[in-house]
Order: sequence, then C-alpha cells, then structure tokens
Amino acid sequence: MKITIVGAGAVGASCAEYIAIKNFASEVVLIDIKEDYAEGKAMDLMQTASLLGFDTRITGSTNDYSKTADSDIAVITSGIPRKPGMTREELIGINADIVKSVSSSILEHSPNAIVIVVSNPMDTMTYLVHKTTNLPKNKIIGMGGALDSARFKYRLSEALDCPASDVDGMVIGGHSDTGMVPLARLATRNSVPVTEFLSQDRLDQVTEDTKVGGATLTKMLGTSAWYAPGAAVSSLVQAIACDQKKMFPCSALLEGEYGLNDLCIGVPVILGKNGIEKIVELDLNEAEKAKMKESSQGVSGTNDLLDLKKVSG
Ligand SMILES: NC(=O)c1ccc[n+]([C@@H]2O[C@H](COP(=O)([O-])OP(=O)(O)OC[C@H]3O[C@@H](n4cnc5c(N)ncnc54)[C@H](O)[C@@H]3O)[C@@H](O)[C@H]2O)c1
Repeated sequence: MKITIVGAGAVGASCAEYIAIKNFASEVVLIDIKEDYAEGKAMDLMQTASLLGFDTRITGSTNDYSKTADSDIAVITSGIPRKPGMTREELIGINADIVKSVSSSILEHSPNAIVIVVSNPMDTMTYLVHKTTNLPKNKIIGMGGALDSARFKYRLSEALDCPASDVDGMVIGGHSDTGMVPLARLATRNSVPVTEFLSQDRLDQVTEDTKVGGATLTKMLGTSAWYAPGAAVSSLVQAIACDQKKMFPCSALLEGEYGLNDLCIGVPVILGKNGIEKIVELDLNEAEKAKMKESSQGVSGTNDLLDLKKVSG
C-alpha cells in the first residue's frame, strides 16, 4: 500500500506520523514545493522508526511526482492554513490553484489513486477536484467531518466528565464555523443518549464550542491545528487501505442524497477499498434538515467563488 501526502507541513507530516505509527502501509511519500522540506520531514520521521517500532518506509521529495507513481491513496494538504481571525473560505484564491495543479500531477502518475482532500475551504476544494479530474465520485473524499466529530466527542466528554472513548457522536454539514451540524440528538454515552445527562443549555454550549473548534485553536496557536487533523486523515486512510468499511462523516459529491445536488458536503459514508462505498442517509428531523439546507447554501456560495472558467481550462 503506497500513500502519497502532498504538503509536508504541519498536517501532512502529522498525518504521515500517525500512518507510520499504525504500521499498516508499506510506503508513505511526502511531497512539498519547499526545497528539501519533505525530505527533511521524512528523514526526521524515519529516525523515530526504531524508537516507535514501525516498518512503514517514509520518503520525501521536492515536487518530483515520479516518486509518487502508482500510489493507492493520495492526500492533499498543500496550501496555506488560516491565521487568527481568518475564515477557511478566505483561503480559496491561493488554495484553489494549488489543489488543481497538485491533483493533476498526482493523477498523471497514479491514475487509479483515491484522493483525500484536506486543504481549505475543504468542501469547495473537494468539489474542485471533482470538476477538474475524471475520477469517479467514490474516489474523491473530503476530510472535515471526521475531525469535527472528534472535536464534538472531546467537548461532550468534557461536559459529561467521562473519557472520550465512552462517547459517540457525529458532525455533518459543511466544514466551516457556521456550516457544521453537530448531531446532539443522536450522540450517546455508552449507548445512552447524551440528552439524558446534559441540559439543553449545556448541549448548546457543546455544539457552539465544536463549531468554533478550529478557530479557537487557530487563535491559541497562531496557525491552524495539526495533531487532530493528521489523526483524522490517518483514520480515513486506514479505513480505505485496510478495507475496514468504517463509517465517517466525509465531504462527498451529492446527487440527490439529503435533497442536495452538485456540491460536496459532510455526510456519513462507508469507507473501504473503493473509497466511498456508500453514502448513508440519516433520518434527520425537521430542525436538522433545515440546518443542513442552510449549511449547503453556505457551501454552494463558496463554490460560486471558484473561477469555473479557469477551473475547467
Ligand atoms: N480539512 C480539515 O479538517 C483541515 C484541518 C487542518 C488544516 N486544514 C488545511 O490544510 C492545509 C494545510 O495546513 P497546514 O497547517 O499543514 O499548513 P502548512 O503551511 O504547515 O503546510 C502546507 C504545506 O503545503 C506546501 N505547499 C504549498 N503549495 C504547494 C504545492 N503547490 N505543492 C506541494 N506543496 C505545497 C507548503 O510548502 C507547506 O509545507 C491548509 O489549507 C489548512 O487550512 C484542513
């Protein structure tokens, strides 16, 4: 199993680290435009192999896509992250050009790869990859909901004063501060609805803290977070590489599901060796449907900012 990660920055390197530690891939190739940067990150990570006991071979390359040839999975983390006070949507100009050129270079050398898009604004960047490549829709996956759900579970575990492993919960919708739809009604602690333990006010607070989870960290760190994003991506990569058929909320191209069309947005999907094996349609209540609709309008609005003439050229 060969995995390429484009962008050897904070998220890309963290993702490579978690993939290696989980020890399911034979090879990870990190690639970056900064001279020697990916090579340096790869060497540093490889020097942890004997300490951490993994056999995955990590190599780095400065923009030489021939090194990525025949990758099974490619992760796109290249692009600029947000700074404090910025929205993810403000990154669109620079990141659209980067994501477009990077996805074309990946597919030139690995035409059968499954592509996971991480760069922000992620739902729109995922849609851009659909518009600019001929990959089938099951092979293009946006990572956002897996991270947002992990943050939701963290906030729930805080409120419940219990380990995060006791908690299950999911965030669907757009990967933006206003677009996320944390499904508090369906969240559980050991199969018991969290609504049995937490007041509506406390749950509303958890929901709000989840939605601004990325912005909170960006303010504290001066740039966007990387540990949880890298771990979330590594879980998606593992589900595909090991054909786990696990369910994660991911940004997927919708063609009628949830009453939505022609956009990528976070919905539960089953991930296996073919990428998105199935989109799971939840029985949302009216309030959740309305939030999903509003979220989709936000995502479509950001998609409209793409220069489609440039994109299709
Ligand atoms: N989807 C999510 O949940 C999520 C979570 C965190 C971060 N992000 C996004 O991921 C992206 C990366 O974040 P980061 O913190 O790792 O940033 P970073 O600045 O640490 O790393 C980005 C790397 O991309 C490289 N790069 C830029 N253009 C490139 C190109 N054309 N080809 C190859 N490499 C190129 C840069 O040299 C840099 O090393 C940002 O857009 C950020 O907003 C998304």
